Amino acid sequence: MILLRSVVSPAHGVGEPRMTLTTRTQEINEHMNILERIKSDHETQRDLMRRIEDTEGDSEKRRELYQQFKAEFEAHAAAEEHAFYAPLMKHSESTDQSRHSVAEHHEAMELIEKLDETDMSSPEWLKTFKKLVHDNDHHMEEEEDDVFALARQTLGESKLAELLEVFDDRKSEEMA
Ligand SMILES: [Fe+2]
Ligand SMILES: [Fe+2]
Repeated sequence: MILLRSVVSPAHGVGEPRMTLTTRTQEINEHMNILERIKSDHETQRDLMRRIEDTEGDSEKRRELYQQFKAEFEAHAAAEEHAFYAPLMKHSESTDQSRHSVAEHHEAMELIEKLDETDMSSPEWLKTFKKLVHDNDHHMEEEEDDVFALARQTLGESKLAELLEVFDDRKSEEMA
């Protein structure tokens, strides 16, 4: 609030707006929370899934993008369960939704296992991958539309900001 006022205030000298903008950027970063990180991870997953759908057969491109997607998906799910669903689970209002989301992670992992065991050039592989895309799109949408609202109510803004680091640390460990 104070920062916004100082940006629009006509009382400031010529040299000051630049300093204020820098301060505002820092302020925004300080307020970044786990929800924003989850959303940006989802964008990465959506992008990778679309790019994989555009590949054909057992190609180097498909292999490379699929491995990237798999690593990203698994690390995201592990970090989400550790930093997001574990604390959400403790609140009775969000216990059922958390269990539902974690169950969906397991279902997706099963599809990933099936993909790993299927010949990449077969129609079966693409059929299974399309099911994973469909289910995962639905899962991420539900998280963004329903779980985020629930998390804001039960955990609150300062806890959500605090959990960003917990999420990032766990995800880095998983990706290492
Ligand atoms: Fe999830
Ligand atoms: Fe997610």
